[in-house]
Amino acid sequence: MEKGRRNDRKVVAGMTDPLTTLSPADPALYHEDRWRPMFERLRAQAPVHYCADSLYGPYWSVSTYDLIMQAELRPREFSNRADLGGIQINDIAKGLDRPAFVSMDPPEHTPRRRAVAPIGNRSSLRQYEDLIRERTGAVIDALPKDEPFDWVQRVSIDLTAMMLATMLDWPQERRMELMYWSDVATANLNAPNPLVKTEGERYAVLEQMADAFAPLWQARSGGQGGFDLITMLANNPSTQEMSRAEFIGTLFLLIVGGNDTTRNSMSGGMLALHQNPTELEKVRQDRSLIPSMVSEVIRWQTPVIHMRRTATADAELGGQTIRMGEKLVLWYISGNRDESVFEHADAFIVDRPNARRHLAFGAGVHRCVGDQLAELQLRVLFEEILARGLRFDVIGEPARVYSNFIRGLSAMPVRMTV
Ligand code: HEM
Repeated sequence: MEKGRRNDRKVVAGMTDPLTTLSPADPALYHEDRWRPMFERLRAQAPVHYCADSLYGPYWSVSTYDLIMQAELRPREFSNRADLGGIQINDIAKGLDRPAFVSMDPPEHTPRRRAVAPIGNRSSLRQYEDLIRERTGAVIDALPKDEPFDWVQRVSIDLTAMMLATMLDWPQERRMELMYWSDVATANLNAPNPLVKTEGERYAVLEQMADAFAPLWQARSGGQGGFDLITMLANNPSTQEMSRAEFIGTLFLLIVGGNDTTRNSMSGGMLALHQNPTELEKVRQDRSLIPSMVSEVIRWQTPVIHMRRTATADAELGGQTIRMGEKLVLWYISGNRDESVFEHADAFIVDRPNARRHLAFGAGVHRCVGDQLAELQLRVLFEEILARGLRFDVIGEPARVYSNFIRGLSAMPVRMTV
């Protein structure tokens, strides 16, 4: 549980501070977009680093690409389990745990993941592409010309909300409810003006979400539904009997996983292109670079800042001994800026030869299920923009989300010219 704000405020101070006092967990670092120097120092001087005192208790930070990958590929030693604390640095509050398959280890994890995996397979992508293109075209064509608008609301949120409603076969006209639940699910309780103030309040909203989905589940069990995530879960032997807590956790996972991440890549991509006009020109001249640019956008944005694991026994990583029960935070945002893998890692380069190696989708048994679906939505968005010859300028500072888990933009003023 988060206890208060004071502690981490103290430890994010200057780069001359003793190494032992550094804590990259302060959400203000991401809110104010000033996380780079701290990770540069950690990667160089302490790639597996112990922070003894933070808002989230003691924890280990893993900050280099190779060591993050090693930890990802050792799920028996470094667990996702909800009862050990789950997948975020912020331990799951006791009694309010919501076990979804992302916070389980094999063997429990495996069949549940398989139940929803068809959403990201090739035939599903083929089935969705035309729909995504049609909607993307309509959203872009409705944007105002030569006047400011918020890219996040008008484009990123609208498109990903429609897609999420499609994946869940949820009524399109009620798609903003999905956005609200997603925002509540990820809200940082210590943010200025948080959407919910306590874990109890958060859980109450998620209960309402479960109530809203219950009739859909009922109607689609027994093979009555179509091709959507609720039908998949309601008819799979490993998920059809799930407890209410698991039901809530699974909805939470799908709503956040399928939405926030892609939304923030759409916003981050627009910002990256605005800040790097030469790269934009490259892709304008050669649209076959769009798929590589999409990977670079996802690397550059890294919408999931970290995932957390807990040691199930004493284990060695990068020359450090992690004791049983200690938590490790895998900082994807840092691994994706590791110069030993990505040359000029802070630069946005649309034809970066190894952009696809990024860690933003994780790795190993929990690697993102929706990776190709996310790439498809981003590819179509940039294809449709470039096909229309549209030009966008970011005309003010984007507002960033207060979180150490989701790297997001909450607003970004833009002007479009033709
Ligand atoms: C750019 C967009 C996206 C990013 C950056 C992203 C990132 C991630 C990350 C970091 C993980 C955890 C990986 C690990 O622990 O190793 C994950 C898991 C997951 N993602 Fe995504 N995701 C994206 C889009 C999507 C979409 C569109 C869906 C829609 C279905 C989705 C569904 C999931 C699910 C269900 C899991 C849990 C997988 C498991 O535990 O086996 N994600 N994602």
